[in-house]
Amino acid sequence: MEMISVKNYDELSKKACELLVNQVKNSDSSVLGLATGSTPEGLYQQLINEYRNGHVSFGHVTTFNLDEYAGVAADDPNSYRYYMNEKFFNHIDLPDEQAYLPPGDAVDLEKECHDYETLIADSGYVDLQVLGLGLNGHIGFNEPGTPFDSRTHVVELDESTREANARFFPSIDDVPKKALTMGIGTIMESRQVVLLVSGSKKADAVKQLVHGKVTEDFPASILQKHQNVTLITDEAALSKL
Ligand code: GLP
Repeated sequence: MEMISVKNYDELSKKACELLVNQVKNSDSSVLGLATGSTPEGLYQQLINEYRNGHVSFGHVTTFNLDEYAGVAADDPNSYRYYMNEKFFNHIDLPDEQAYLPPGDAVDLEKECHDYETLIADSGYVDLQVLGLGLNGHIGFNEPGTPFDSRTHVVELDESTREANARFFPSIDDVPKKALTMGIGTIMESRQVVLLVSGSKKADAVKQLVHGKVTEDFPASILQKHQNVTLITDEAALSKL
């Protein structure tokens, strides 16, 4: 795992932006894996700036998001689709039909999970996957205990994850109990992973990620076995190392 340590969140977002722009510029058909949550917001803003300055185009890029809440429609402000539109897609030249998220409001969620895997495979797999880190080590919505060989599937969210995400909802009761997520096996197939971790709240999780053993009890630990992972952290996230 390559570690890049930067001073603060702003530098973290710029560093991540650099890696994504390199990927997009060095290939005429990149497949990007994207994440939601607070951590990548700065990255998306930086990428929008790069696009507006004419430094990069997303016309030939395909994107697959990691996850989506179950039972939440695309136009619901709490959906990850809405988040992606607002924070990134609406501001760049990525064609709508090249931006995929698991459809959270579909009738047959199991079938959608299967189809999502097929779509990723048909696109030639993910070149660069952006990841955030959950406090309990989750990646995407793969909670502790998820098999390392899991594919895109429906998950029951941990109470701790619902609490951590409650800040985006009117109350904790509004946070969905289920979600769709790429599996850990799916994530591990991406050619490159860029893992972003910011802030002192994540310091224990970073310590476990870097020094802990590889165990399904801490899903992100499997990344120690990936060939090409860049972990970008700010000083606060490294404070317990
Ligand atoms: C959420 C998302 C993850 C995200 C993680 C960390 O539950 N499903 O994809 O990486 O939690 O979020 P944040 O960046 O807001 O700390």
